[in-house]
Amino acid sequence: MEDRLIITSNPNKSVSESDRSALVIWGKSPLNGHVTISGAKNSALVVMTGALLCSEDCRIRNVPSLVDVKRMCQIISALGVKVEQNGDVVDMNAQEIGTSQAPYDIVSQLRASFFLIGPILARLGEARVPMPGGCAIGARPIELHVMGLQKMGADVQLAHGMVHARVKGSNRRLQGARIYFDYPSVGATETLMMAATLAEGETILENAAQEPEVIDLANFCIAMGAKITGAGTNTITISGVPSLHRVDYSIIPDRIEAGSFLVAGAITHSEISLSPIVPDHLTAVLAKLREVGTQTIWEAPDTLRIIPANTIKPTDIETLPYPGFPTDMQAQFMALLSLSEGNSVITETVFENRLRHVAELQRMGANIRVKGNNAIVTGVPFLTGAKVLATDLRASAALVIAGLAAEGKTIIQGLHHLDRGYEKLEPKLQKLGARIQRVQNEAEAEALNLTV
Ligand code: UD1
Repeated sequence: MEDRLIITSNPNKSVSESDRSALVIWGKSPLNGHVTISGAKNSALVVMTGALLCSEDCRIRNVPSLVDVKRMCQIISALGVKVEQNGDVVDMNAQEIGTSQAPYDIVSQLRASFFLIGPILARLGEARVPMPGGCAIGARPIELHVMGLQKMGADVQLAHGMVHARVKGSNRRLQGARIYFDYPSVGATETLMMAATLAEGETILENAAQEPEVIDLANFCIAMGAKITGAGTNTITISGVPSLHRVDYSIIPDRIEAGSFLVAGAITHSEISLSPIVPDHLTAVLAKLREVGTQTIWEAPDTLRIIPANTIKPTDIETLPYPGFPTDMQAQFMALLSLSEGNSVITETVFENRLRHVAELQRMGANIRVKGNNAIVTGVPFLTGAKVLATDLRASAALVIAGLAAEGKTIIQGLHHLDRGYEKLEPKLQKLGARIQRVQNEAEAEALNLTV
């Protein structure tokens, strides 16, 4: 059933039905078959903001049906821009942008919506976007976005929880600039790349993020007539153009969803296949899977089959900006390594508070100690099903993965996180043979028996 989003004026009370519902998993069912990977959430969200750069029709395909995408549609619509979602197609027309101010109650729930500041500023010469606020995995500051916009000639004030940016000068057009990032932030690279497409002159982004989603955004902008080179390297050059034209664009497959299914296959010692996948996007994840003993073979250029091993070997992991190991896969690998035959050290370097799933995995019998940003995982012979709480999006996926391998019944609550980022997760897993079901509340979860 589709999740119904209820927005209230107080973001803390902004709940979805998935807040009360629970996932029940009965572990130890082998998986088998094929899974179709959806469009990339992080690409789709930023490409939707990028469509504000264009005053003509934009059709975006392969957009996953997720709560975050619905929220982005709501924000874009609140800006007075036409937006329509039909299945996996989003149509937008930003000929008119009615207001330069993004609504607080939704922006505060969706980090990616802060990235709207670049396109709104480029189009209108002024943008007011609420600060994204803290989030479960870390403070996630915005100083790199602000620094870059200032270098491009914007006056940026932070007051009353709002970022107010205005382009100085009579023509209200941003100016090309040379911008060096102290850290290759994905969001800051995307914000400034978008802002630069309509700026006057050339912008050079140095130490830029190289994530596939940055390349996807660049390709989308190029398809609208933007002049961008170097996306996917650490130096991106953008020559500003006066306007962009209509586009019909398809989002790349979600590498994190693919990685999550690969780990689900590895932990249940199952042979499953996945497509579509872009091989280059999964280099680090596949290397780590090989280290734990799980082989993968390319059945077709975009289809991967996983050949599981009987045991899971330990390995060390350090999260890093792309092409390093993705922080968005750290929790899932922690679930996998908790069943390995030895000790592994997982080091989280990207976000300062992204080990909160440790406590929940411990409830399932995992032996994990945290020291600073390191988690020392000592493999155990088995996990046991338990009642656990999802703490963030990828932590939710880790709990599902652990539940698939655990003995007995796992009940996962806090599904609003999961629904932000995994399209049709239960049907996809059910099709592979997993015993998994969503129920409306805890009482139903307690009563449900999936053994028959
Ligand atoms: C994006 C992804 C997220 C992924 C992350 C890292 C989206 C919507 N989200 O998030 O899933 O986990 O990349 O791959 O695309 N930082 C600063 N100052 C800034 C900006 C960032 O210090 O101005 C820090 C952050 O606090 C964090 C690190 O840089 O510690 C990485 O953040 P960033 O790459 O910006 O991640 P997001 O774009 O927020």
